[in-house]
Amino acid sequence: MNRQEERWENKQRDKILDLFTPRIKKNIHFANDSEIDKCIKSLSKDKNIYLSGITGSGKTILACATLLEIAKQSFLEPQQAKFKSFAFISVPEFFEDLKATFAQDNKTKELLDSYKEVDLLILDDIGIDKCSEWVLSILYLLINYRYEYLKQTIYTCNLSKNELALKLTDDRIISRINNNSVSIKMKKIDFRIKV
Ligand SMILES: Nc1ncnc2c1ncn2[C@@H]1O[C@H](COP(=O)(O)OP(=O)(O)O)[C@@H](O)[C@H]1O
Ligand SMILES: [Mg+2]
Repeated sequence: MNRQEERWENKQRDKILDLFTPRIKKNIHFANDSEIDKCIKSLSKDKNIYLSGITGSGKTILACATLLEIAKQSFLEPQQAKFKSFAFISVPEFFEDLKATFAQDNKTKELLDSYKEVDLLILDDIGIDKCSEWVLSILYLLINYRYEYLKQTIYTCNLSKNELALKLTDDRIISRINNNSVSIKMKKIDFRIKV
């Protein structure tokens, strides 16, 4: 192991893992290497990724393991790095966090803006919230900004794109999610109930 690899293992890796919940950290090793490679290849071709499948099929773990591997490559070879900043959003929690900022001047905008500029963002579990006008307008602001500024996103969703389109009602959001994205369907296995 060279010094940079040691630094990654001893320090940087944990910083990236801290973007995730303890459950994700604990289970991230389950992700399948060839599926991670497939995601990395799509991202390197400037594509977004739409991971769909039933609950427990491994979407979140695959998205996070892909981000971790890309962060590792970027750290080890910074000159060639396409992605330099990373974030993970659990979409339902994000809306809760945004609501909690309502009483504070400008905080809602600051929180939303902080995710607009990130080079690689995971939007985990998009489409499980009730889609109020407010939820739709926030999603539009975030997704449209990232679309305009060519920022890449990994979406995870337990709905197919057609089902998500029906749920979101707003065509503008789904057309931006569809634009330049690769759809990956997880196998119909619920790992959570596997014994
Ligand atoms: N490739 C895999 N092989 C075996 N178990 C897996 C795999 N991916 C995920 N798991 C297990 O399944 C659980 C659910 O994965 P998760 O990614 O959270 O599913 P989803 O986001 O699709 O609901 C994880 O906590 C992990 O224990
Ligand atoms: Mg999930």
